[in-house]
Amino acid sequence: MRRGAFCRVATILGAVLVGSSDLHASAQQSEDALAPAPSPTEATQRLAAPGMVACWGNTQAWLPPPVPEDGLADNYTTLTTGASLETSADYGADDSDGVGALSLDGAPSMGAPAEGDEEAPFHTWAPTEIASPFAFASLSAEDSYACGITTGGAVACFGSTSPLRPDLDFSSPTVLPIAASFIKVATGATFACGLLSNASVACFGRMGDQLWTGPGGTEAQPTPQLVAGGLQFAELVAGGNHACGILLNGTAACFGSNEANQLGAQQDDVQLGSSREPVVVADPSLAFTSLAAADTFSCGVLANSTAVCWGGYTDASQSELLPAGLRELKPKQPQLFAALAARGSTVCGLTLQHSILCSGVVASFIDAQGYPETVFSATPIPLLSTSSYTQLTIGGSGFFFHACGLTMHGKAECWGLNNEGQLGLPPSAIANSTTPQPVATGLYFSQLSAGGDYTCGVIA
Ligand SMILES: *[C@@H]1O[C@H](CO)[C@@H](O)[C@H](O)[C@H]1NC(C)=O
Ligand SMILES: *[C@@H]1O[C@H](CO)[C@@H](O)[C@H](O)[C@H]1NC(C)=O
Ligand SMILES: *[C@@H]1O[C@H](CO)[C@@H](O)[C@H](O)[C@H]1NC(C)=O
Ligand SMILES: *[C@@H]1O[C@H](CO)[C@@H](O)[C@H](O)[C@H]1NC(C)=O
Ligand SMILES: *[C@@H]1O[C@H](CO)[C@@H](O)[C@H](O)[C@H]1NC(C)=O
Repeated sequence: MRRGAFCRVATILGAVLVGSSDLHASAQQSEDALAPAPSPTEATQRLAAPGMVACWGNTQAWLPPPVPEDGLADNYTTLTTGASLETSADYGADDSDGVGALSLDGAPSMGAPAEGDEEAPFHTWAPTEIASPFAFASLSAEDSYACGITTGGAVACFGSTSPLRPDLDFSSPTVLPIAASFIKVATGATFACGLLSNASVACFGRMGDQLWTGPGGTEAQPTPQLVAGGLQFAELVAGGNHACGILLNGTAACFGSNEANQLGAQQDDVQLGSSREPVVVADPSLAFTSLAAADTFSCGVLANSTAVCWGGYTDASQSELLPAGLRELKPKQPQLFAALAARGSTVCGLTLQHSILCSGVVASFIDAQGYPETVFSATPIPLLSTSSYTQLTIGGSGFFFHACGLTMHGKAECWGLNNEGQLGLPPSAIANSTTPQPVATGLYFSQLSAGGDYTCGVIA
C-alpha cells in the first residue's frame, strides 16, 4: 500500500509535449558520462567535501544495490558512514519501481528485511555520502532518482529510475552529454527539465504515458529537446507529469499534463487535456516570484508575497478534483511568503520571517494496525519550531510525506514519516514526528531535497 496505493485519474494526453529541436550531444560526452565511480577509499577521503551529496532513508535511489557476492557487498558497505542501519517494519506490499527483490545474503551490515519480506528496501537513517566524480551545486530528488546541477553547469542524475539511464537498474552519478550550461534542473516522475543559462528550457525522459515515446512505446528519450514556444524562463519546477516556470517578465507558464488543472490555464469552455507548449497561468498580468509543483497541482508566490495554488484533488485518494482557478493559501494570521514546496497532497510555505506553514496533508503516519493515516488542514498551519529556515523541501508519495528545512546555520531538520529513516533519525527511536527534528549528523548543507522516502543534501 505505498506508491501504488493511490490511483490516478486516467490521463488524457493529446499530444507530444516538447518540440523537435534536438540539442546536440557534445563530442566529449562519454568522458564524463562513462567516468567510473571513485573507489571507496577516494570517496572516504572526500567525506564532507563541499558539493558532495549525502543522503539518508531508503537507499534504492542513491546507493548501488549490493550484489550478494561477499567481496562486492563488503566494498559497498565501506561507503557508508559506519553508523548502524535500521530495520524497517513491513508496511505492506511495496510495488514501487526500481530494483526488485534483492537478496541480503552476504551483506549483513546492509540491514535485514522484515521477517518474511524479501522485498523490504534497504535504508539507513545515517546521512551517507554518495560516491560521485563531480561536485553538485544543487539537487532535485524524485521518488527513486535525483538530478542536480554540477558545479561545472552540467546536469547529472543518479538512482534506480534515472531518466538519463533508463536502461540501468541503478545509475551512479552520470552527466547529461550536452554541451550547454544549465543553472537549474527540475525532476518529474519520469522526466527532467533543465533551465539553460540562456533562459531556454530543455527536457528529457518521458512525460506522461504518450510523450517522448521511443521504440516499444514506453522508453525514455535521453536526448534533451527544447521546450516549444521559445519562451525565456527565470525559474523552473516540475510535478509528476508537468512543469511550470516563471518567465523573465514574471508571468508564470506551465506545460505537460493538465489532468487535474495543474497547468492553471484559463480556458473558458474547453477542458485542456495537456499542452506541449507552456501556457500562461491564470492571467499574464500576475507576476510570480517563486513556484512549487506537486504530482497534480502547482503553487506560486505572487509579487505581493501571497501564496496561491491551482489544480489538484480534494484529498490524497485523488477522488475529486478541486475547482479550477487560483486559490489563495490563507493562514489565520496573514503571512508574507517567500517560497513554497509541494509534493503529494502537501504544500508548505517559507515566510519572509523564515518560519514554515503547511496545509493539505500536514501529518502522515502508520497507525497501530499498520494503516496509513493522514491529518488534513485546508488552512496553512504554522510548524511548531523555534528555528529559522532558509529553504524547504517535501518528499514522500501518496499518503505519505516527510519534509525538511534548512536552518540559517546550514543544519537539516526534518519532520513527517520516518519509517525508512528519511528524517535522519533511527526509525526505532522515532516513527514519525509532527515537529522538525535535527538530522543526526555533523554535516552542514547548502541545499536539501527530499525524495520518495529518502532525503539528500548538498554538503556546504
Ligand atoms: C572489492 O574489494 C576487494 C578487496 O578489497 C577487491 O579485490 C575487489 O576487486 C573489489 N571489488 C570491486 C567490484 O571493487
Ligand atoms: C540556448 O542554448 C541552447 C543550447 O546551446 C540552444 O539550442 C538554444 O537555441 C538557445 N536558446 C536561445 C533562446 O538562444
Ligand atoms: C510575459 O511574456 C509572455 C510571453 O511572451 C506574455 O504572454 C505575457 O503577456 C507577458 N507578461 C507581461 C506582464 O507582459
Ligand atoms: C496580492 O495580489 C493578488 C493579485 O494581484 C491580489 O488578488 C491580492 O488581493 C493581493 N493580496 C494582497 C494581500 O494584497
Ligand atoms: C505517529 O504519530 C501519530 C500522531 O502523532 C501517533 O499517534 C503515532 O503513535 C505515531 N506512530 C508511531 C509508530 O509512533
